[in-house]
Amino acid sequence: MSSLTVLGCMWGDEGKAKIVDFLGVDADVVARFQGGANAGHTIVLNEAKYVFHTVPSGILYPKAKCVIGAGTVIDPFGLRDEMKALMDQGIMFDQRMFIDVRAGLVLPLHKQLDGSTEAELGASKIGTTGKGIGPSYADQAARSGLRFGDLAHPGWLKQRLESLYAYHDLEPKDLQNDLDELAAAWEFLKPFSAQADALLREWYLAGEAILFEGAQGTLLDLTYGTYPYVTSSHTITGAASTGTGFPPRWLDRILGVYKAYATRVGEGPFPTELFDATGERIRRVGNEFGATTGRPRRIGWFDAVGARYTASLNGLDAMAVTLLDVLSGLPELKICTGYWLDGQRLPGYAPHPLDLARVEPEYLILPGWDQDIGQARSLARLPQAAKEYLEAVQDLVEIPIELVSVGKDRSQTIVVK
Ligand code: IMP
Repeated sequence: MSSLTVLGCMWGDEGKAKIVDFLGVDADVVARFQGGANAGHTIVLNEAKYVFHTVPSGILYPKAKCVIGAGTVIDPFGLRDEMKALMDQGIMFDQRMFIDVRAGLVLPLHKQLDGSTEAELGASKIGTTGKGIGPSYADQAARSGLRFGDLAHPGWLKQRLESLYAYHDLEPKDLQNDLDELAAAWEFLKPFSAQADALLREWYLAGEAILFEGAQGTLLDLTYGTYPYVTSSHTITGAASTGTGFPPRWLDRILGVYKAYATRVGEGPFPTELFDATGERIRRVGNEFGATTGRPRRIGWFDAVGARYTASLNGLDAMAVTLLDVLSGLPELKICTGYWLDGQRLPGYAPHPLDLARVEPEYLILPGWDQDIGQARSLARLPQAAKEYLEAVQDLVEIPIELVSVGKDRSQTIVVK
């Protein structure tokens, strides 16, 4: 009986999938609790490439059960296609995939609204992934949205869909065609529909190990992130509970994932952003391009102020530091240790986006290292400078580092403790 929650703790793309994949070997269940197809990652295993957007990456472990919780929003067509592609690669879903009937639906209309809202915002756009996530969650909150379980009730579905179009002042092109397509998607997805909350509680009490897999990152949290430049779901620890119906008291361990540097996709403040050749180099070596949209990611130095804020918000027990190998070859490295605003050193994080956009980072400067560290399997095998860098991160964030990733492969992971 145990649960482990793995969360991205900056602006997403921290390498959670690699960590979840590494830890998945011990999990009986891997559950997603928020977000939707805005997430994206590829896992390479035995030279085969598997692409994930909504399916938990635990599906690669043949014995693991996978849950898509009620707090997610699912595109029934995209999810069907993603599952079919994985099935074609030999992945089995029968009796091990459970989609909560209360998960919200992302419909083509939501993607259309996502695109048109961004276009209207022009220069003030959020820079969303265009996957319809914001409009779908907005409809859930407005109680105009549709949910996965609605697909089982054709009469109700028709009525809800008509009301949804009316709510948005839109005319369906062909409502019957929409309903037929949804019916076809349901035909495929129905065997996986479940009351997943009850199952999770039952499995936990039966002694199974449950791993909650967060999507995006804490600084993209709807409330605590860099609002309005955030996603539309909650990405912090508490969401693992609200997004699955799992009691918060049963969230046993929380592991935060941080990249050894910082990245962000989309608009919004980014205090340590680099606009120079160092940033370019990190982008190239780290292949920092969005997995869902292909957009180049913005790059910056590790921000220990932001990191300490998210570690505290999430109540982390430990942290995993990923992509340390990407920093090899840089002559010096910087870590942001404080924010200055209008001549004053702030006591911590700056919650308003206008302030965060103006803060001046104070940096600790550390020596870099030249060695390729991809083969290191213990801290002792890292160059002294890499060890000092990790120590500085750990001291500044005030959370012990438990895992360090030094390459894409599952084996390229250092277990610190
Ligand atoms: P949305 O989630 O598509 O509405 O996008 C809102 C913001 O979250 C944008 O800045 C996106 O770039 C960002 N975002 C959404 N999903 C991810 C992700 O998986 N990784 C990194 N950024 C993301």
